[in-house]
Amino acid sequence: MGEKDIERQAPNVARMKMLGATVVPATSGSKTLKDATNEAIRDWINHPQDTFYIIGSVVGPHPYPDMVARFQSVISKEIRSQLQEKIGTELPKAVIACVGGGSNAAGTFYHFLDEPSVEIIAVEAAGCGVHSGMSAATTQLGKPGILHGSKSYVMQTADGQVVEPHSISAGLDYPGIGPMHANLFATGRGQFLSATDKEALEASFELAKLEGIIPALESAHALAALKQLKFVKDDNVVICLSGRGDKDMETYMNELNKK
Ligand SMILES: Cc1ncc(COP(=O)(O)O)c(C=O)c1O
Repeated sequence: MGEKDIERQAPNVARMKMLGATVVPATSGSKTLKDATNEAIRDWINHPQDTFYIIGSVVGPHPYPDMVARFQSVISKEIRSQLQEKIGTELPKAVIACVGGGSNAAGTFYHFLDEPSVEIIAVEAAGCGVHSGMSAATTQLGKPGILHGSKSYVMQTADGQVVEPHSISAGLDYPGIGPMHANLFATGRGQFLSATDKEALEASFELAKLEGIIPALESAHALAALKQLKFVKDDNVVICLSGRGDKDMETYMNELNKK
């Protein structure tokens, strides 16, 4: 785990340690997700006899993106079954999810990919603003390239060096997207939006106030995109709340102290 993320996701680290894991800090580059993924792949290829590569997002070399998308597809299976039960149809107007590497989004979209009436909306992190130089909005800033063993869109300089991303949320702070999302973007099947750090924070506080749910900062980006979309009263829109905000309480507390 990136050294910076160990700090900003301290409750997750404590939880992993309590459950018996050894958490090794990745100290290279920006000390975040990209660098942790580099180190994990490096360790795996140096110890192929006794090491498994276990990745939590739809990134890395084939077949990992495909495997993770299939595991996560339980999300859209469950969405279909809950919608059938609650509104009498399995198909919503739109499904919305945040995209770091893209695993919760892949799972949310999976069983709707071949349902053209369902709008697929992915939300990336715009950080301090898409063109601020501190952003992780890969589809808006990236070009085709290879990162962590798969071809996708990658934030990179003219000579192919990866550009350091920025997002307030550790999980969206990644300069690429999984290849499935690159395809959704390139074919136009998915609509790609972005939300800034500030918009995500506002969405978190709004959800907490209105629904009593404190979302993860990553998920808050998906919520924030609602303000950019137009729906009518009876549209059924599903947003994936990919995680709880417990791990982000320190960021939320800092924000509260500013108010
Ligand atoms: C709660 C939460 N949501 C979303 C993400 C983003 O990852 P992905 O794009 O693979 O779903 C993360 C990553 O750590 C996360 O912790």
